[in-house]
Amino acid sequence: KFKKRIGLIGFGCVGQGLYDVVEANRHLGWEIGSICVKDKDKPRTLPASAFTYNVQEVLQDTSLDIIAELISDPEEALGILRQALQQGRTVVSANKKVIAENLPELIRLQQKYGGVLLYEASVCGSIPVLRTLEAYYGSEPLLEVRGILNGSSNYILSKLHAERGSYQLALEQAQALGFAEADPSLDVEGVDALHKLCILATHAYGVLVHPEEVLHFGIQHINTEVVELADALGCRIKLIGSLKATATGQVALQVLPTLIPATDALYGVEAEFNGLEIEAQFAGKQFLLGKGAGSHPTGSAVWADITSAVRGYRYTYPKLCTSQATKASGEEQITV
Ligand code: HSE
Repeated sequence: KFKKRIGLIGFGCVGQGLYDVVEANRHLGWEIGSICVKDKDKPRTLPASAFTYNVQEVLQDTSLDIIAELISDPEEALGILRQALQQGRTVVSANKKVIAENLPELIRLQQKYGGVLLYEASVCGSIPVLRTLEAYYGSEPLLEVRGILNGSSNYILSKLHAERGSYQLALEQAQALGFAEADPSLDVEGVDALHKLCILATHAYGVLVHPEEVLHFGIQHINTEVVELADALGCRIKLIGSLKATATGQVALQVLPTLIPATDALYGVEAEFNGLEIEAQFAGKQFLLGKGAGSHPTGSAVWADITSAVRGYRYTYPKLCTSQATKASGEEQITV
């Protein structure tokens, strides 16, 4: 066999993005071995012969080196991840809801069957934040991680500030540009940012937190009047997810629309960009900026996971190993 082969499940915005990135990098010795989609009637950019409609054909094809799960249906996605990991396979996913809600189980499945799951593309699109947290801050106390984690709501808020345009129109543009979720209420109600924040909590602080336990509000009630008021104060409204170490050794998490002054590093993060400020005890503050949504930026993050997984990259969950910290209520401690 000359080429490494990817089994692609899902050919929506991110799946198509991954396809384009792999095609542009064919010289690196990779190809898409099969593509599974659900809807036979949906118009697609490839001929019908390029697709299979039976997910088991992909999951049982042992000639595939890696599986990319890129569908939006959370139950189906979880079933695919479970099956792939129970077979000890290497799988990558961009599905933040599924990862955030099932991380303890997904870690256990890897331990038990020896498979591998990477999911960098699920948090902040193109920004390699999970591996940055592990590599740079895995053994350093973090004081705070805060950022703009949802591109669609940031796009809408940026439009409201720049053009005083209609909220609905900005949301429709975010959908048309492929930034929004299939159900955009997840974006504007802060749920997508919440999912990403819970995943960040595990890699930044070694805690397993279920999204239902975390305070979150979205931008659905932000209107032109609120934006004008923010402008008058010299601020912008941003949807901020934050993780903060408390004095008692616990971690406080929240997702809230927040007034951000011009002196704040997050002030200039506009449109579909995401930005994160990480403050570590010894390193001080660092800032990460990049496209948080969109077909090619997210496809690029999936591609990075694929190529690094076959080179042996694994999450080591350094803080989960050592953490004596708060556990999500009802969770057993996981040893990795
Ligand atoms: N809907 C998400 C966003 C896509 O707008 O950020 C990237 O996770």
